Amino acid sequence: MNHLLRWTTMMGIILMSAMTFQGAGVKSGSTTKSSFGKTPEGEAIELYTLTNKNGVEAAITNYGGAVVSLKVPDREGNLGDVVLGYDSVDGYVADKNYFGAIIGRYGNRIGHAQFSLAGKTYTLAKNNGENTLHGGVRGFNKVVWTAKAVPAKGGQALELTYLSKDGEEGFPGNLKVRVVYTLTDTNELKIEYFATTDKKTVVNLTNHSYFNLAGPGSGDILRHILMIEADKFTPVDVGLIPTGELRDVAGTPFDFRKPTAIGARIGADDEQIKLGGGYDHNFVLRRKAGEAMSLAARVTEPTTGRVMEVWTTEPGVQLYTGNFLDGTVHGKGGIAYGKRSAFCLETQHFPDSPNQPKFPSTVLDPGAQYHTETVYKFSVEKR
Ligand code: BGC
Repeated sequence: MNHLLRWTTMMGIILMSAMTFQGAGVKSGSTTKSSFGKTPEGEAIELYTLTNKNGVEAAITNYGGAVVSLKVPDREGNLGDVVLGYDSVDGYVADKNYFGAIIGRYGNRIGHAQFSLAGKTYTLAKNNGENTLHGGVRGFNKVVWTAKAVPAKGGQALELTYLSKDGEEGFPGNLKVRVVYTLTDTNELKIEYFATTDKKTVVNLTNHSYFNLAGPGSGDILRHILMIEADKFTPVDVGLIPTGELRDVAGTPFDFRKPTAIGARIGADDEQIKLGGGYDHNFVLRRKAGEAMSLAARVTEPTTGRVMEVWTTEPGVQLYTGNFLDGTVHGKGGIAYGKRSAFCLETQHFPDSPNQPKFPSTVLDPGAQYHTETVYKFSVEKR
């Protein structure tokens, strides 16, 4: 009896793996397009759903180029959404949190809403106290991008293009921007950013996805375990503008060189933590000379086993722990997004670089090609 049971179980396993193997062989990814509603101006907006051969799914809208949902497996293989967002374009039109969006022309803050370039001072809109945040009043998160599915090796890709006109939001130069999202068959969401200009300008593009690896609606992210490859961070003033100092993380709540729970020191009696209302700071990534892509951060969610690695060509990453979320915004499925219910890891050049000569330059010259790349890579950790 026992033998028979074992034999049947064994045959079952063999059959199942054969089926899985065959299944994997024939399965391929797909990209589909559906309606995501209309803007108040009556423009039809689309939602593109990229699915890889493992069934992992990234839904992206051409409104603001936002990642609307991202479904990745947990350690049991169950697919679950790991980003905050809205059910239709209306949510994105009203949004003040930049959920999942492409951020530009200048991601993060520019102090006093101005900078000088080639002897000219440019004045921008003040949309964050005295400063400019995430490109101004109508940043790249509030514009309609031209979208098209493009061929990609080992995955599904969506290309988004946008022409930011000379003077838009106060920035000089006609800036031609191209962003390519690729969902690879190895469960990575790769984002490539390209831009060219016809006048000297500044550019700093990023993506503002809010992650909760246990799923939106599962509470706060304080028990997520975070590692950041940074020995230094850029301390800020009351307006969250970097002071110019690169400060050692050693001995501060900003030391994530060893994996640590996000919440372990978020309430610390620390001047910088208080200024940010939690983490809202740029980390100076440790980079090896000549290395194009480096690991910037790794986040692990213990209950689901989901792991997300962030790889980038950028010199910095902003850790923002959703300190300004307060439960008043309702997202997909009507879920209220509470304080610290998600975190962002925005790969970038440092905030206020146009006014900080010691920071890596964000200047783009005519004839030069802006190109950066960031990869969010998903896997699971066994128990
Ligand atoms: C900023 C926060 C800001 C948030 C927008 C982050 O990148 O650093 O200060 O509130 O974006 O929701």
